[in-house]
Amino acid sequence: MGSRYHDVYEGWRSAPERFWADAANEIDWFKSWDKVFDPDMGVYGRWFVGAECNACFNAIDRHVEGGRADQLALIHDSPITGTQRKFTYAELKREVAALAAVLLDRGVRKGDRVIIYMPMVAEAAFAMLACARIGAIHSVVFGGFAARELATRIDDAKPVAIISASCGIEPGRVVPYKPLLDGAIDMAKSKPATCIILQRPELECDLVPGRDIDYAEAVSSAKADGREAPCVPVAATDPLYVLYTSGTTGQPKGVVRDTGGHIVALKWSMKNQFGVDPGEVYWAASDVGWVVGHSYIVYAPLLHGCTTILFEGKPVGTPDAGTFWRVISEHKVAALFTAPTAFRAIKGQDPQGEFVRKYDLSGFRTLFLAGERADPETIKWAERLLGVPVIDHWWQTETGSPITNNPVGLGMLPVKYGSPSVPMPGYDVRILSDEGHPVERGKLGNVVVKLPLPPGCLPTLWNADQRFREAYLEEFPGYYKTADAGYVDDDGYLFIMARTDDIINVAGHRLSTGGMEEVIAEHPDVAECAVIGMADELKGQVPCGFVVLNAGVSRDPAEIEKEVVALVREKIGPVAAYRLTVTVKRLPKTRSGKILRGTMQKIADKEEWSMPATIDDPAILDEIGVALKAKGIGI
Ligand code: COA
Ligand code: AMP
Repeated sequence: MGSRYHDVYEGWRSAPERFWADAANEIDWFKSWDKVFDPDMGVYGRWFVGAECNACFNAIDRHVEGGRADQLALIHDSPITGTQRKFTYAELKREVAALAAVLLDRGVRKGDRVIIYMPMVAEAAFAMLACARIGAIHSVVFGGFAARELATRIDDAKPVAIISASCGIEPGRVVPYKPLLDGAIDMAKSKPATCIILQRPELECDLVPGRDIDYAEAVSSAKADGREAPCVPVAATDPLYVLYTSGTTGQPKGVVRDTGGHIVALKWSMKNQFGVDPGEVYWAASDVGWVVGHSYIVYAPLLHGCTTILFEGKPVGTPDAGTFWRVISEHKVAALFTAPTAFRAIKGQDPQGEFVRKYDLSGFRTLFLAGERADPETIKWAERLLGVPVIDHWWQTETGSPITNNPVGLGMLPVKYGSPSVPMPGYDVRILSDEGHPVERGKLGNVVVKLPLPPGCLPTLWNADQRFREAYLEEFPGYYKTADAGYVDDDGYLFIMARTDDIINVAGHRLSTGGMEEVIAEHPDVAECAVIGMADELKGQVPCGFVVLNAGVSRDPAEIEKEVVALVREKIGPVAAYRLTVTVKRLPKTRSGKILRGTMQKIADKEEWSMPATIDDPAILDEIGVALKAKGIGI
């Protein structure tokens, strides 16, 4: 049978509001909308204006009331601690409603922000859903970020409460979270009134009297008293969450997600794009700190009545490269979503796929990859090994769900290696030249989306409408700038080639080289610096910093390089994966003083490069090549 994709996409194009109104019928509303879309509201318009709903109600309560009370809703599978916990929809409701009651006790109200800084434990999902239940706006901060990054987010979001844990667990080490949390609160100007701390047995922590409360004690006492907070109606246009993502500077962007449009878009995507049915098991092997975790560990699978898996482990080393296959067979996973880097890690350790043969994967239907470029070799390897379709799809924190995908639920289209396939309904994707003109088919250009963005995309940045306009809407009037470069082929397939800004993608994690440069520049011996993303077989890209030392510095550069590495780890966190600093005499620049980062990256990656016409002093590029060779790079 052919794919329904083209008909469905044309259906959306000819009547977008009818399309989204139909999709919205899959959601339970407390009050219906006055307008499906109001172009006069917000920065570029708002969806489902006048409607009222609750994301937690749609993710949990409606299933409890609708016959799924005893179905598993969430499985916490933690090979790193050797534990598993399972929660039915009814049990999930009890956990979430009790935690929501605790939040109310601590004065958290509709519209207040709550920061969640947690490892991959079930309570991280409970915390998100508890906020949604009472209309509080959650902001999850990834556990691999250091105290200063957390402090920046605290000062921007100004949370009334923070939910955190005593520690996270990485292979071979326990990561104490509490000193990071306390350090961040000390640094921040805005102080939360309450911290709710989950004590983990691997490392308990002290609680600050008057501010900190014990998560387990508070929730047990709410349960013992039979207190359950009800789901409050919120406006469809009210924020469900703010998720900070890397911008071009060290100040991250607070991506705002509205409630109504988001749950409509996610619900639609589960069946039509990911091809899963209610009752099936869906696993996104990511982290709740990233957008993939928000959308496809927590909200989408639950909105759809699936069982979701929250996995605390790594694709390799916990305990071996067979972990993913064990989880798939043990929990009967129908679809897995992860980043290509996870598969490169598995392939690196088990190229012949010996571990796969040990498990029954007969119920497994589709592998979805996103978050970074999926190299064709890895896709083909996974296809051969698993015997299922491997689907590359492309999106961003800003959009909340796929922009392009191969919609298996509508009938799969042919796979083109290297392409994340075709635009999903809601997205009119165009390729424009730097001057804003459409480019020919097959030619590289700026990937943009015609406004308005569909439901679920960011309506703005947190408290920063003007930054939103400047960052995304001003360069190409009438379009949203994705900051990705790519092209569309004759069959309408998109190919994403690179970012057009200084964002790099390290193991599927989005990082700002500008942010790293700001930190490195703080080192007292550094006069100037530039950070580039270098190709890496496992992580896709890794950062490499070039530093020019202040005149008169006589210390051993190797020592300073080590200090710079330590500084980035301390200020940004281990997630930056910053391990390499190269000391150089000068940085290559254009005559107007712009650092030629692109050319430096090509030299490091052994790509062909040509001498930029505007270069100030061509000899500097040779010096860069020599300095890299001395580190064994670019040879
Ligand atoms: N808390 C504290 N530290 C963390 C952390 C967390 N939640 N997450 C990662 N880190 C640390 C790691 O321990 C590592 O520290 P190290 O420098 O001391 O070794 C550092 O941050 C870098 O982490 P990462 O880039 O993830 O490298 P890794 O070697 O630990 O793992 C992969 C590499 C490929 C196995 C891993 O990145 C992975 O599984 N990625 C695929 C899934 C995914 O996360 N996708 C994200 C978006 S879909
Ligand atoms: P994030 O906001 O962290 O999801 O990162 C979004 C960015 O990751 C995109 O703008 C792309 O640069 C990159 N990206 C995500 N998915 C893909 C993909 N399938 N192919 C190529 N790049 C991708």
